Amino acid sequence: MPKVTAQGKTFECEPGANLRRVLLGNDVALYNGNAKLINCRGIGSCGTCAVMIEGEVSALNWKDRGRRSLPPHNPDRPLRLACQTCVLGDIKVTKYNQFWGQGQALVW
Ligand code: FES
Repeated sequence: MPKVTAQGKTFECEPGANLRRVLLGNDVALYNGNAKLINCRGIGSCGTCAVMIEGEVSALNWKDRGRRSLPPHNPDRPLRLACQTCVLGDIKVTKYNQFWGQGQALVW
């Protein structure tokens, strides 16, 4: 079972599990501020579930690439949309500040 480390916690999930669902299911504060209420619920259009991931996850898909190619995201920054990412191995997840998680300061 892959181990996910995020917001100071470590928990396991099924291989291939959707990262957004895994994080929310383990009470991780995936969204910053009002993005907790104003988000696309995982269809890949809002971009607010962006996180930095170290470890093995699914390949980047077109929704993730497309949404993060639009401002305020920067396509050159190696963030991922949690809702478009499946967990394949042990990972560490980091969240940055600002509404879309596009900032430079660590939230957790
Ligand atoms: S929840 Fe909207 S893009 Fe992931």
